[in-house]
Amino acid sequence: MQEFLTSLGSVSVVIGAQWGDEGKGKAIDMLAEHFDVIARASGGANAGHTIIYQGKKHVFHLLPSGSFHAGKKVILGSGMVIHLPTLLQEITDIQAAGVDILPRLGISLAAHIVLDCYRDIDAALEDRRAAQGGKIGTTKRGIGPAYMFKTMRSGLRMESLLDPSADLRKNIEAIADLVQSHFGVAMDIEKEFDQLQAAAKQLKSTLTSMDALLELMYVKRQTVLIEGAQATLLDVDHGTYPYVTSSATTAAGALQGLGLPPKCLTSCIGVAKAYCTRVGEGEFKTEATGAVAERLRERGGEYGATTGRPRRCGWLDTIDLNRAALINGFTCWNITKLDVLDEEQEIPVRTWDATRKEAVFVKLPGWKTSTKGVTSWERLPVLAKEYIQFIERKTRIPVRLTGTGQGMGEMIIR
Ligand code: IMP
Repeated sequence: MQEFLTSLGSVSVVIGAQWGDEGKGKAIDMLAEHFDVIARASGGANAGHTIIYQGKKHVFHLLPSGSFHAGKKVILGSGMVIHLPTLLQEITDIQAAGVDILPRLGISLAAHIVLDCYRDIDAALEDRRAAQGGKIGTTKRGIGPAYMFKTMRSGLRMESLLDPSADLRKNIEAIADLVQSHFGVAMDIEKEFDQLQAAAKQLKSTLTSMDALLELMYVKRQTVLIEGAQATLLDVDHGTYPYVTSSATTAAGALQGLGLPPKCLTSCIGVAKAYCTRVGEGEFKTEATGAVAERLRERGGEYGATTGRPRRCGWLDTIDLNRAALINGFTCWNITKLDVLDEEQEIPVRTWDATRKEAVFVKLPGWKTSTKGVTSWERLPVLAKEYIQFIERKTRIPVRLTGTGQGMGEMIIR
């Protein structure tokens, strides 16, 4: 473990390599205690991670997975879009669990606010796309509209909570006007205004410029763990457009969202399931159907933490993994949920055949032995080791972490 931690250096980012839900939260939770600052850079309450703290289950959408670690500074970066009632609820929940978050929370003044009416727009746009036969399957958390207003330069930023007075009401009225004229959606101005006032009272002391993060890193020499949200194939530029989210989900996007220079990054952990899942619409070349998909879904507990939707399930695609590794500059892999494949006779994997110069499916032999809770590489069945080594060979990136179960300790560290 110590050798692995040393290899990560002082600024590490954890990035999903597939379509999200790879189980990034577990690695972050495990690593958080070894870093001074835990930061989220982009996205909003479309993300969802489940944390078990003192035997109780918590589902967070905005606070990073590492928030339960006392004494760590928690940053929500400029690239994020924040639905304030959701954030306040998460703060209430974590405080009720006896964890004091407010004094160590820093929210970027430049992060954008997700108004309730953005969720209505999100739903209305999805209805319209569905009628035209092309819905995206968004989480309906108002993410697309929030980034739309941001890039239109008509959005509301967290800095507006510093002085929630007459100007704020004027700005909300201007947004209400756009919302009505562009999308035919009526905004409840009073309700939005009241929510902003309530949030201002609670969050004012947490608002900060991202220069404070630079100071923590360069002046106070603090170490930073960045929690990527969503994943590479959902990136607005590099993913399977238009079936993507609206933010930059790559390592570069995380740095942009936090205002950090690329040269500061010392490691980048790519996270991928030992198989693959996707929620929402869009291509999925290795998708399984029928009983096979159902088996993976049940064994892997593949239901969305944010929407409860059953996830589409399928097999690993090393062509996608390789591309994600190149785009993000992964320095190592965390392959999660290996145990979900324990009962498979054969495991199909999509990969590149250099001789035929085309993508092919190969069938790797299953190990048909339980790997649940295995924590040492030596105790892994030979065929499971070969599966992991296949990924390493195809991507030329070492697998340092292998998940073998839901529990925190159920991980092989090499
Ligand atoms: P949106 O981000 O809500 O606009 O959704 C756009 C697409 O990204 C949909 O296919 C969602 O299912 C997917 N998506 C967004 N966030 C996540 C996530 O955290 N995990 C998995 N899929 C996500």
